[in-house]
Amino acid sequence: VVQYVGVRHVVRVIAETGLSEVLAGLAAYIEEDFRRWESFEKTPRIASHSRHGVIELMPVSDRRLYSFKYVNGHPHNMRDGLQTVTAFGVLCDVETGYPRFLSEMTITTALRTAATSALAARYLERRDASTMAIIGLGAQSEFQAVAFKTLLGISRLRVYDVDPAATRKFVANLADRGFDIVVAGSAQEAVLGADVVTTVTADKRRATILRDEMVGEGVHVNAVGGDCPGKTELQRELLLRADVFVEYPEQTRVEGEIQQMPADFPVTELWRVIAGRAPGRASARQITIFDSVGFATEDFSALRYLRDRVQGTDCYDEIDLVAEPSDPRDLFGLLRPGLVRTDEALAEMAT
Ligand SMILES: NC(=O)c1ccc[n+]([C@@H]2O[C@H](COP(=O)([O-])OP(=O)(O)OC[C@H]3O[C@@H](n4cnc5c(N)ncnc54)[C@H](O)[C@@H]3O)[C@@H](O)[C@H]2O)c1
Repeated sequence: VVQYVGVRHVVRVIAETGLSEVLAGLAAYIEEDFRRWESFEKTPRIASHSRHGVIELMPVSDRRLYSFKYVNGHPHNMRDGLQTVTAFGVLCDVETGYPRFLSEMTITTALRTAATSALAARYLERRDASTMAIIGLGAQSEFQAVAFKTLLGISRLRVYDVDPAATRKFVANLADRGFDIVVAGSAQEAVLGADVVTTVTADKRRATILRDEMVGEGVHVNAVGGDCPGKTELQRELLLRADVFVEYPEQTRVEGEIQQMPADFPVTELWRVIAGRAPGRASARQITIFDSVGFATEDFSALRYLRDRVQGTDCYDEIDLVAEPSDPRDLFGLLRPGLVRTDEALAEMAT
């Protein structure tokens, strides 16, 4: 059988564990996997672009476990009352090739993205950082706020969204979580005095959410929203003034903010910083940018975390994703009447 964690079970895991504990736990798993970066077989994700969005498959393996995530990005969806990003993922046993663990990953992507951002900021923001600006208050935004508060103690927020309804939702969702929130009238106003700036907007185009002159010395930029070809948030000149940190250059050069730059634009791989092989922030005046696009190891880590977390609980279902005939060569035998219980037979048993 395959263990399956659906939306209601992920919600229960978060309720029973606590959101902060889940984010901290995820960050620890993600950090552990970044540290052993070289043990993974990696590839940029496989993207299928269409007029309004993209559908992506994100595979990775450490040769013991193999995982992939299915994820989409459709900024137009919101107008039709649908989400921009939805996802699910699976963890498989390399030895047998059997899928073992299947999970929803719409909520889990928001969790792992936020945990990764906060983890990167731990190495890249100034030690005395206390205020974060967030531009774009959609589905990902509260997770980012809670992750930075949990991992870095940042509780002062300056926030902006073009849509006042998104702002109201954000403020209401975080009302009881100990934040001091200032709602700004523009992105420019939001970044005033901020030590960290998170951009997490969705628009399938080259947007300029952060202009060069909006960012002063010493700021860390957590650029989350620009994550596919033709979709960026930062002005090119800002990238030239900053030190840029990325997950997997082969993927980020196509999808990230640095798609605006030449192919040899210098970047530092985040795993090197985490593994102590490259410096993170080197001075209080340096501008650092985490050009986040989301990489498959983060989903691998998130699936490992969830799998471990639900063992010994009832926060999962067992599903018959894989046919398991008692004689493995007699797959056809499963078609014999009576062997597989029909819906009618199950309903009869229940009464
Ligand atoms: N880097 C990663 O790992 C990662 C992971 C998940 C999502 N993402 C990306 O993050 C982005 C946000 O995702 P989401 O699920 O929160 O989307 P969403 O559609 O729920 O929210 C986006 C918000 O941005 C606002 N916005 C759009 N243009 C703006 C502007 N010019 N100024 C201020 N606000 C603006 C919208 O009003 C909306 O509230 C998407 O582009 C998504 O692809 C990246």
